[in-house]
Amino acid sequence: MTFSWLPGGSELNLQQDLLDAAVLATKHYATTLDARAVFPSQAALASLAVFDEAIPEAPCDPGTVLGTLATHGAPATTASSGPNYYGFVTGGSLPIALAARWLGDGWDQNSALGRMSPIAAQLEQTVEHWVTDLLGLPDETVMGLVSGSSIAGLSALAAARTHLYTKAQWPFAEKGLHGAPPIHIYGPDSLHGSIDKALSILGFGANQMHWLATDSEGRLLPSALPTLEPNAIVILQAGQICTGAFDDFASIIPIVKAQGAWVHIDGAFGLWAAACGATRHLMAGADQADSWSVDAHKTLNVPYDCGLVLCRHPSALKSALTASGSYLDQSSLRNGMEMTPEMSRRARSVELWAALKFLGRSGVAGLIGHFCTLADQLREQLRNGPYTLINEGGFNQVLVALDEDAQTNAALQFLQASGRVWMSGATWQDRAVIRISISNWQTTEAHIRLLGTEMQRAAQAVQPAPPASS
Ligand SMILES: Cc1ncc(COP(=O)(O)O)c(C=O)c1O
Repeated sequence: MTFSWLPGGSELNLQQDLLDAAVLATKHYATTLDARAVFPSQAALASLAVFDEAIPEAPCDPGTVLGTLATHGAPATTASSGPNYYGFVTGGSLPIALAARWLGDGWDQNSALGRMSPIAAQLEQTVEHWVTDLLGLPDETVMGLVSGSSIAGLSALAAARTHLYTKAQWPFAEKGLHGAPPIHIYGPDSLHGSIDKALSILGFGANQMHWLATDSEGRLLPSALPTLEPNAIVILQAGQICTGAFDDFASIIPIVKAQGAWVHIDGAFGLWAAACGATRHLMAGADQADSWSVDAHKTLNVPYDCGLVLCRHPSALKSALTASGSYLDQSSLRNGMEMTPEMSRRARSVELWAALKFLGRSGVAGLIGHFCTLADQLREQLRNGPYTLINEGGFNQVLVALDEDAQTNAALQFLQASGRVWMSGATWQDRAVIRISISNWQTTEAHIRLLGTEMQRAAQAVQPAPPASS
């Protein structure tokens, strides 16, 4: 293929050369992650200035374009898909999922309609069944593939709103929220910020929200549940972002469902606990909810971005996200856009299918068990101080603090500057904390030993000097 409109383009086999170069550079990157600085150096950050330019007036040689990314871009990445990264809840990329992603990117399918991409539609349908089965969700559950749990939560809560207004016989499609009976939202006061964002986009205000008391790990106290107002949505979580704690679904859901509430579970990283024998108990009763959100790009180690909205009321989800147009004809093929806010979407089902086909049921269980075992190993390494372990049994999350907030923050800075490991901090129940999230398939016991050693070094470096003896 030649590009005669580009300078020198007629002599170039652009497609082939560029793709080969990109593959080589990416292979090199992906196979050297362990040795890379986990956070970019000051020099690498300074080199980003090269991107700070006005729009070029003329075309640029594509080899130079790619080369600029490889030379100045790659060093300024965080090695977040490598084994020493414990920040946020990030996950890695299984090689098969990454390879399938490359293939899918080459196909460049639009998965809005089945007629646009029969393969994307087929794979969506297959993974819908697989995920529902793995997570033990009701057979009638449908699934939409979105960018992440934020949009999955938004989609599910939109379905909840539609469902409740249909039940209340409020003509939402004609009148919208104007003059509508209020919907009341209940949940633990430790919910993820993406839920607030989704609720505000959907037109709910603070006066409609009832954030309820939680225990020391952020679990909703069943005793804090009030009698619900009519038209209620109850939001629970499988995996609190700091502590990894799960709400007591088996106790709470029957009580609130008996009052007619819609129950949503935000399980961005934790919902996968249902797919592993050692952690399945954490999800007991979760199958009674109405909707769930989960990411494949976190615990399942599918590359970014890949989130899933799951809903047991297909008509509520579809009518909340409906879009029409005479050109959007129906066919017997699955139309993924009916279950997502977006129309045009890349075919996320390709890499999700590949990851699940590769892992199988036992591989998914093994991956989750691996993270939890490593989290236990780290807890044991830290048990003798000087860190206080704040959470116990927190799935893949380890939450620690030193005695004083200033020390905790200084230790975190020390660790982040080391280039050898990276994790993020937070404030948990008014205390500065260090959050360690173990969610990468490449992380081994040896990496956790290194992490423990680095954490001890950081603690020593920030301990106040002992008082001078007189
Ligand atoms: C519990 C929880 N909910 C929602 C989200 C938002 O997910 P995403 O970043 O995939 O949109 C996260 C992200 O970490 C999370 O941990």
